[in-house]
Amino acid sequence: MEVIICENSKKAARLTAKMIANAINEKPNLVLGLATGATMEPVYAELVQMNCSGKVDFKDVTTFNLDEYVGLGPNNKNSYRYYMDSNLFDKINIKKENTHLPNGLALDYNEEADKYEFMINNAGGIDLQLLGIGNDGHIGFNEPMSSFASKTRVKVLTPETYEQNCIYFNPPESMPKLAFTMGVGTILNSKQIVMLITGKKKANIATQAIEGPLTSMVTGSAIQLHQNVTVILDEDAASNLKMKDYYNFAFKNNPKWQRYQ
Ligand code: PGA
Repeated sequence: MEVIICENSKKAARLTAKMIANAINEKPNLVLGLATGATMEPVYAELVQMNCSGKVDFKDVTTFNLDEYVGLGPNNKNSYRYYMDSNLFDKINIKKENTHLPNGLALDYNEEADKYEFMINNAGGIDLQLLGIGNDGHIGFNEPMSSFASKTRVKVLTPETYEQNCIYFNPPESMPKLAFTMGVGTILNSKQIVMLITGKKKANIATQAIEGPLTSMVTGSAIQLHQNVTVILDEDAASNLKMKDYYNFAFKNNPKWQRYQ
């Protein structure tokens, strides 16, 4: 695992966007795994800018999002399809038919989940998966005790996740209690993972995921099992990390990061 600590959240988002753009420039038909949430908004704003100024081309890119609320369709402002369209897909030159999220309106959950796994495999697997982390340590909506071998399925959200996300719903109680999510195993199957964590509120969970024991109580800790992970944090989110000095030293001295200095 490589850990990169940026001065502030804007720089962390910019670095994340640059890594995604470079991956697309190296492989124009990249299969990109995407995440939603407040942390990712500045990343998508950067990618829109880069696309507008000709620095990255999404023409041949395929995307798969981590998750979607059960019961919410694409026109619902709280659906992740709506979030992705409005923050990214409608503003870049991606082909809409190449963008995928689980169908929140599917009635047969198992069939929808299996179909999503099939589509990911059929696309050749995910080349680069972008991840955030929830206050309860989840990646996607893999709530505590999700198996590290899990595949796409429906999960019941924890009260902590409910509290974190119900502020976006009007009324807050209308937030669904179920969501489709890629499994931890699905995420670990991707070829590369880039996780972005920003803000003081995430300092504790960031430390548990990066430096804590491997445990399904913090599904974010599963990234320790993956051979190609970069975690990008701002100073606030990195404030509790024990090995901070080493991460900074490694970032400065590893030639592979020179293009990002
Ligand atoms: P956030 O969500 O970016 O809104 O904090 C992250 C997550 O819950 O995975």
